[in-house]
Amino acid sequence: MSMARHLARALLAAGALAVGAAAPAPISTRQGVYDEAQAQAGARLYATRCAMCHGRMREGTYETPALQDRFIANWSKAPVKNLYDYLARAMPQFAPGSLKPEETAQIVAYLLKANALPSGSRPLPVDGPALARIMLEPAAAPLAPKAASRTK
Ligand code: HEC
Repeated sequence: MSMARHLARALLAAGALAVGAAAPAPISTRQGVYDEAQAQAGARLYATRCAMCHGRMREGTYETPALQDRFIANWSKAPVKNLYDYLARAMPQFAPGSLKPEETAQIVAYLLKANALPSGSRPLPVDGPALARIMLEPAAAPLAPKAASRTK
């Protein structure tokens, strides 16, 4: 085998290895990506730092978007990191950049819980690459009443 071909083969093999060792598969916010204590801490922060504009029940106002209904869907098909980074950069609107990383994660956890996404056994990370692996997906549609009644 020529030197060039040999080298090409070696490079191909290395490439295959790199693909095989790629980052772990993404996970979904439907899989329990925050824990209850974190969401509760987030609820307290929300009440004091966000509710005055977004509403106690996240209902929004004429000039402030609601943080429910279409909210999660609007941020979905993207990593939860996008929402995390937006909060860290832009909210609360009167003091952007004032949330600590743990506080930002607590608020994201609260917003997930408030939008019917399940908790799990571990807190949402504050680490960028870990947040980039978690895909934001809205809660699964509830069972249609007909289907649910079959289990009676
Ligand atoms: C002073 C009022 C005010 C406060 C306080 C505030 N926000 Fe906002 N927020 C806004 C406004 C206004 C927008 C719309 C901004 C825009 O469209 O550029 C917004 C946008 C957002 C969005 C994007 C909504 C969407 O439609 O996708 C999120 C998420 C959010 N805020 C979360 C928070 C959180 C969490 C807090 C508390 C840490 C907070 N905000 C505090 C006024 C506020």
